[in-house]
Amino acid sequence: TYVVTENCIRCKFMDCVEVCPVDCFYAGDNFLVINPDECIDCGVCEPECPAEAIVPDSDDRAAAWAEINASYAAKWPNIIRKGTPPADAEEWKDKPNKKDLLSA
Ligand code: SF4
Ligand code: F3S
Repeated sequence: TYVVTENCIRCKFMDCVEVCPVDCFYAGDNFLVINPDECIDCGVCEPECPAEAIVPDSDDRAAAWAEINASYAAKWPNIIRKGTPPADAEEWKDKPNKKDLLSA
């Protein structure tokens, strides 16, 4: 499966949503997750993210985020269309240490 990681927080560009063939993204206020039970590992979303937030679960960056993706995918609503990203999304791109800013 693929995993959404920290870089997505407060960026939430949603380009990933538009390309997923199985619509397996789920949306919180400032972060998206992938449902690991639905993702077919196609990899199409990874290069679409301007924040480089999406990685395969084999990537070191995925480890801390796999469980977060699985648990929020069970709570948050499905999202299948790109909406309007946060007004300050570009400012949050590439900022480190955003994990505590995730709105659950
Ligand atoms: Fe969707 Fe493919 Fe990305 Fe999985 S890897 S979330 S199936 S686009
Ligand atoms: Fe987040 Fe990137 Fe998608 S910032 S919403 S994972 S395009």
